[in-house]
Amino acid sequence: QTQLDLAVIPGDGIGPEVTAEALKVLHKALEGTGLEVKETSYSLGAQHWLETGEALTDETLSDIRGRDAILFGAVGAAPGDTRIPSGILEREILLKLRFSLDHCVNLRPSRLYAGVPTPLANPGDVDFVVVREGTEGPYTGNGGALRVGTPHEIATEVSVNTAYGVERVVRDAFRRAEGRRKKVTLVHKHNVLVHAGHLWKRTVEAVAAEFPGVEHDYLHVDAATIFLVTDPSRFDVIVTDNLFGDILTDLAGAVTGGIGLAASGNINLDGTAPSMFEPVHGSAPDIAGQQKADPTAAILSAALLLDHIGQPEAAERIHAAVQGDVESRVAGQARTTAQVGDAIAARL
Ligand code: NAD
Ligand code: IPM
Ligand code: MN
Repeated sequence: QTQLDLAVIPGDGIGPEVTAEALKVLHKALEGTGLEVKETSYSLGAQHWLETGEALTDETLSDIRGRDAILFGAVGAAPGDTRIPSGILEREILLKLRFSLDHCVNLRPSRLYAGVPTPLANPGDVDFVVVREGTEGPYTGNGGALRVGTPHEIATEVSVNTAYGVERVVRDAFRRAEGRRKKVTLVHKHNVLVHAGHLWKRTVEAVAAEFPGVEHDYLHVDAATIFLVTDPSRFDVIVTDNLFGDILTDLAGAVTGGIGLAASGNINLDGTAPSMFEPVHGSAPDIAGQQKADPTAAILSAALLLDHIGQPEAAERIHAAVQGDVESRVAGQARTTAQVGDAIAARL
């Protein structure tokens, strides 16, 4: 392969700011590999929605589908912007991409880089990955509301869990654990969510039989939040449902140096559509347009992209550059988003 046909969706808020730095670093990391990047940028997000009334048309989606991979910034309107109802951009752009492109595994690694400040007193050696289910759970949009606005309103959100959907994600978690420290932790809440919880539990037990070298254990999600703070080094691969994974990975980001360092990949496991790489964080309207955002999460997401497309050496170079950069950070010394990107690119 000599060309990477890359779709770029910078999005809203800090999305364009951090995506610019991720692209800068991506290009630099690929220098000398012979792989050319052909970028196609899509202007999707708040502004496009306000101008056209469209979030992501099926036509644009099919154009994106034809690319090799997607680099995504963030979408989401500012909270004060009453013109855009909450959830429109998130559901109709981001979730539409994840669902339509069958991004069943939402891969969210957490690594505590040496020298990175953490709120934990004794973090230990933190290096785990959350395999978050990406196309099911409470995210499918099943549910509804009756008697809206009355005292008798009833609102339901239905969590969808299929044997097919759970099994492929669980098997992916075991495969990843096999190449790591050989431990899978299922996080759920089967003491309350008995229907979905038992499907997940049974699936883990069944798939575990195929991986005799990988141990597995289980935590209820509430207890998992305790251990993420008190003993995060116990985790190797966490496999969990879409919503639990969303919550746990913001927490995981916070304990490993902040949300500005947390990267993710939305993986299409069978290669039927491009995978998509994005920071875990959102559009951060509170700091948008001020060059205050840390682009490292976006940059590390580009490294996940490179790993995924078969450029592990280029990905490793980015990790080394980020390690060097975070070690050199001085508390209280602010750099602009572009300065951080430049500094990481310069280390490559
Ligand atoms: P957020 O992640 O945007 O921000 C939470 C806090 O973290 C804010 O204080 C923000 O300033 C800070 N932060 C986030 N990224 C940072 C970075 N790179 N560097 C420094 N600080 C950073 O979450 P939110 O405030 O809950 O959501 C804002 C909007 O983004 C909402 O509309 C939400 O729906 C959307 N959102 C989008 C995505 C996505 O597109 N993938 C993800 C999460 C939230
Ligand atoms: C994330 C975000 C999204 C999610 C939202 C914006 C739909 O919080 O990527 O973590 O919940 O998956
Ligand atoms: Mn989230």
